[in-house]
Amino acid sequence: MKLEDRVALVTGGSSGIGLAVAKAFVARRMRVAIVGRSAERLAAAVQTLGSDRVLAVALDVRDRAGGAQLPGRVVAHFGQLDVLVHSAGANHRGPFASKRVEELAEIVETNLVAPMLLTHAALPYLGKGSAVVSVASLAGKVPLPHEAAYSASKAGLRALSRALEVELRGLGVAVSTICPGPVDTAFLGDAAEVPDIVFSQPMSTADRVAEAVVDALESGRSEIDLPMLSGKLATLGYLSPAFLAALRPLLERRGARNKQRYLSRRG
Ligand SMILES: NC(=O)c1ccc[n+]([C@@H]2O[C@H](COP(=O)([O-])OP(=O)(O)OC[C@H]3O[C@@H](n4cnc5c(N)ncnc54)[C@H](OP(=O)(O)O)[C@@H]3O)[C@@H](O)[C@H]2O)c1
Repeated sequence: MKLEDRVALVTGGSSGIGLAVAKAFVARRMRVAIVGRSAERLAAAVQTLGSDRVLAVALDVRDRAGGAQLPGRVVAHFGQLDVLVHSAGANHRGPFASKRVEELAEIVETNLVAPMLLTHAALPYLGKGSAVVSVASLAGKVPLPHEAAYSASKAGLRALSRALEVELRGLGVAVSTICPGPVDTAFLGDAAEVPDIVFSQPMSTADRVAEAVVDALESGRSEIDLPMLSGKLATLGYLSPAFLAALRPLLERRGARNKQRYLSRRG
């Protein structure tokens, strides 16, 4: 797909990976609608991106009525919609039993239900040659303890995306999934609470993930894991849970060491 002059809708476009994707799109002369809840964060993002090619929409993606109207709002503003990127995400780490029901529901509604319903609402506007990209996670392939609902939501998002990839091909809508390992953004939150095994792999940057999104759009690749080697290991672990169980103690020890280094670097 040629990106120049296309119009994109990026959820979570006010921060981290979504903001890096919006930057990459604007640099390719695309116009972009960015979505997030905080009007302040959106305003700061618009300042960074430059306002002439950007529409900021303050919306909680869990708001079903607002989500249903969102693609139409983008088309009313920019005249078309060619690319939909799902990057808004939520997580609440910690033992499953200690999580409030509202926290568990927020994770699944933000990471899975919202992208599903927004894709559904966008389809009437997405013509031949358009695309949908979902930012899932390697946690959707190698489920993480203390992040059970998050892992389940990302596995669900990947399944949705992979099924639609086949189903929408006939309509000329390309569907891609990006599965990053850890990325150095605000999403990591209190890194001390992140499971050790997450740090067993190299940390990516938001810009690196944005490059993968652009690569998926330009090349039509259906799935990109970041880093690639972690993706291969995750796929092996996914195919053989026994192999993953045998490897897990080693990965956890390596991750614990890397995590300590990361925490002392952050101070
Ligand atoms: N960082 C990582 O290590 C990592 C690894 C793998 C996958 N991912 C995935 O990458 C995606 C982006 O994460 P990030 O690292 O860029 O995090 P981030 O910097 O915290 O950005 C999250 C973005 O999503 C928006 N958002 C969150 N909940 C929302 C809601 N209910 N409605 C609308 N917007 C919402 C946030 O804006 P507001 O808070 O203002 O709403 C913000 O713009 C997520 O789906 C995450 O699961 C991240």
